[in-house]
Amino acid sequence: MMNYQDIIKAKRDGKELSTEEIRLLVKGISDGSMADYQISAFAMAVYFKGMSERETSDLALAMAESGEKVDLSGVKGKTVDKHSTGGVGDKTTMVVIPLVAAAGVPVAKMSGRGLGHTGGTIDKFESIPGFKVEMSHHRFIEQVNRIKAAVVSQTGNLVPADKKLYAIRDVTATVESIPLIASSVMSKKLAAGASGIVLDVKVGKGAFMKNKEEAVQLAKLMVKIGRGAGREVRALITDMEQPLGNMVGNSLEVREAIDTLKGSGPKDLEEISLALASHMLVLGGKAEDFDKGLLKAKELLASGKGLKKFIEIVEAQGGKIDLAKENYGLKMADFCIEVKADKGGYISGIDAYEIGHAAMCLGAGRRKIDDIIDYAVGIELKRKVGNWVEKGDSLAVIHANSEEKAEEVKEKILKAYNITNNPPLKSPLIMAVIE
Ligand code: URA
Repeated sequence: MMNYQDIIKAKRDGKELSTEEIRLLVKGISDGSMADYQISAFAMAVYFKGMSERETSDLALAMAESGEKVDLSGVKGKTVDKHSTGGVGDKTTMVVIPLVAAAGVPVAKMSGRGLGHTGGTIDKFESIPGFKVEMSHHRFIEQVNRIKAAVVSQTGNLVPADKKLYAIRDVTATVESIPLIASSVMSKKLAAGASGIVLDVKVGKGAFMKNKEEAVQLAKLMVKIGRGAGREVRALITDMEQPLGNMVGNSLEVREAIDTLKGSGPKDLEEISLALASHMLVLGGKAEDFDKGLLKAKELLASGKGLKKFIEIVEAQGGKIDLAKENYGLKMADFCIEVKADKGGYISGIDAYEIGHAAMCLGAGRRKIDDIIDYAVGIELKRKVGNWVEKGDSLAVIHANSEEKAEEVKEKILKAYNITNNPPLKSPLIMAVIE
């Protein structure tokens, strides 16, 4: 008779676990028969000893089966999903969904909330006045068929094993493990039901993966797991050394996503969004290859069809955006405080982790899962990597609802900026594509 201690011991000693042992573990995590201290010991054993591809895939599949799964059989057409491994200022989903939906590819999107220094798509959408992120399954499918897109928050019983394991990893320093991240992400994507999946694997200071080699390894593993489960999967490896775009914070990011759909957004955000959209168009059967997809995505952006679709999605979910109003009717913070350069030179780095952390301190994110967030606050980056500044030039603007909190993060933001005499080497935004 197998027991949890024996399985933990086997992993501790670097042995490969059988499919049966992994299924037993996942059952124990889901039904509560495996104690939290045993789950944490298991996570730490995996952190140090790793897992084979087969074990990782078994873990992803068993977790995907641990709760409800989303039945997308009622959706007409090939559904496509997208997932980012998490970053700072990453509002691509808000740009990509409307573009892809405007081309007729159904997107039934289930998203998560932010935790720690990273933001979450659901919080961003919820910062739109009136926007509802919960709806019945019937309405979800109906909306996807009617307007080709809907965004909802992950339902309570989707992948309960990952929910439990992730919560424990979060407080036991075991998040940064390639097999644990791969199985966690893919369990959710498999349970969410889409037949095509585009993954955005972030790499850099603001991401879980700190170097390209690790990110490629993670991406390849996730693509393999998805393919093994009969899905079409592609992965992009993208830069998260500095935040994406200029805005960090919920309402501010919605504003920037709208600007991008209007064609006047920051170029880094536009480039990644268009690339993700083109891969989704290919997987959704609306473009033959990446280049044709890119052309189509650019056309949808330039014609304003993407923006129109964004408004349609917002209105279908009870939200209100007024394009004629200042800040599109989104709630903005009471105070704007500038962070000025303390010396002249080139901006050679902006630590995405520190900026994300500063935004969280202002109230834009959660330290703990039940913290209430302030949608209006955040950080607007006035200078990005490669820009030249003189001493006293504005680096960033803090949007805050308390002067005290703004003062608290000012120093942190200044420190996040690295200013040097020589210009930094230009590195590509999209570092690799795994097909
Ligand atoms: N995102 C997830 O969903 N799971 C992880 O383990 C890391 C990032």
